[in-house]
Amino acid sequence: MNRRKVVIVGAGSVGATYAYALAQSGVAEEIVLTDMNSELLRGQVMDLVHGQPFFPTVSIKEGSEVDFADASMVVITAGSAQKPGETRLQLLQKNAEIVGSIAEKVASSGCKGIMLIVSNPVDVMTYVAYRRSGWERSRVFGSGTVLDSARLKYFISQHCGVDVHNVHAYVLGEHGDSEFAAWSMTHVGGITMDKYCPYCGKCEEWDGQLKWIEKQVRDSAYHIIDAKGSTYFAVALALVRITSSVLRNQKSMLTVSVVPDGEFGLSGLALSIPCIVSNNGAERIVTSPLTDDELSSLQRSADVILGAIKELQI
Ligand SMILES: NC(=O)c1ccc[n+]([C@@H]2O[C@H](COP(=O)([O-])OP(=O)(O)OC[C@H]3O[C@@H](n4cnc5c(N)ncnc54)[C@H](O)[C@@H]3O)[C@@H](O)[C@H]2O)c1
Repeated sequence: MNRRKVVIVGAGSVGATYAYALAQSGVAEEIVLTDMNSELLRGQVMDLVHGQPFFPTVSIKEGSEVDFADASMVVITAGSAQKPGETRLQLLQKNAEIVGSIAEKVASSGCKGIMLIVSNPVDVMTYVAYRRSGWERSRVFGSGTVLDSARLKYFISQHCGVDVHNVHAYVLGEHGDSEFAAWSMTHVGGITMDKYCPYCGKCEEWDGQLKWIEKQVRDSAYHIIDAKGSTYFAVALALVRITSSVLRNQKSMLTVSVVPDGEFGLSGLALSIPCIVSNNGAERIVTSPLTDDELSSLQRSADVILGAIKELQI
């Protein structure tokens, strides 16, 4: 296995923007893009390699399935993007076959690396990839709500007038309509929200404000897709964050989408719960002490994903 080789399957908006952000980060030594659309692939790679004098040293090239075998990470962004008005779950059937067959090819290549799923609906696609690859759950996981958690941090920081880097916040459950903000795990400068809000005193109805923030996070993708057709900048940065935790063995706690084995009473699906992410992948699920309301929200989200998985022939 090459030490820091990342293969990106799908060189569309998300895949190419991720390649661009990853090249700038200096985290990968080698970035290989693949896509079934060879013209698009050629164009994206040409455009990226012309930036090499400005990037930290990195090799960027076109590739194919033969690149899976020695990859440190294979990141799957292939599939159809969410169309205006289309829910993530409607993308289900279309993307399941694409992601499932790619996951099988990665596994049969003998790859010893990590598989990261991005294609939507990401929780269902992660479960499909997990089942079709036959890999252990730590090595195949999805980007989950890492993006949504970033959006939550942003909205809290804007609302509270505090540096976003002082905000720690986690969105759990489905990357989709049933996701929820785990307020019991959220803090501003080390102060949990239930203590920070009364202390700050800026809002009269802070409980209502938190609900408004949560709704903004949940509806973000719809707002962006309505305005410009698809989302790709922030998700690309979220993917670089996850990649960095794997390739640099950072052991960051991230809300990636993983297959629980009884944690939180859940199994038979993938969804976002706090995980330690390292060069072993999603190596440890952290069963944080959620409130009863949060546990109910997590179960509701799980039910939505389980319902979607049931519709599929995996
Ligand atoms: N998880 C997240 O947070 C998140 C955020 C944004 C988008 N997405 C999802 O990422 C996916 C990609 O979005 P996009 O905007 O880049 O779409 P896009 O249409 O721009 O790119 C998708 C690419 O996949 C390629 N492709 C399709 N089938 C393939 C196959 N079998 N092998 C190789 N390549 C194949 C297409 O040719 C296309 O270039 C979508 O499913 C989208 O919903 C996820």
